[in-house]
Amino acid sequence: MKILVINGPNLNVLGHRDTAFYGVKSLDDIQGHIKEKASNLGLEVVFFQSNHEGALVDYLQAESENASGTIINPGALTHYGLSLRDALADCRLPIVEVHLSNIHAREEWRRRSVMASVAVGQITGLGWQGYLFALDFLASHLREEGN
Ligand code: DQA
Repeated sequence: MKILVINGPNLNVLGHRDTAFYGVKSLDDIQGHIKEKASNLGLEVVFFQSNHEGALVDYLQAESENASGTIINPGALTHYGLSLRDALADCRLPIVEVHLSNIHAREEWRRRSVMASVAVGQITGLGWQGYLFALDFLASHLREEGN
């Protein structure tokens, strides 16, 4: 089973961003951990990152048909990216929304996620390990659904 692991704007520079919120690992480091975890769970993962909302929409439209689930950290698009939100809704895959920082413990405007209503759930504030918890969840969720 293939899981799309998607990261939005500015997550390509993880490790250089505010480490108090986002930690010291680069996106490559995190993707390495995700890949290892996925192979332990018998899942295939494919990675995509873009700083452009349209590119994220194009990717979902092209790739979601051949996937079983999606893990997405939409970056700042979380709070206003309505075309990405609609693309996620249209792809009809189980979606787990991940944030490295706790978006509910920061500025007021970060507390609202326009993605949350189309996700199965949200993991926020658990750092890079949030992606691994999302993978664990999807593995058992997909098994339960009989995939
Ligand atoms: C983020 C939180 C967003 O508010 C922020 O714009 C990001 C990263 C997180 O992972 O904590 O770029 O999604």
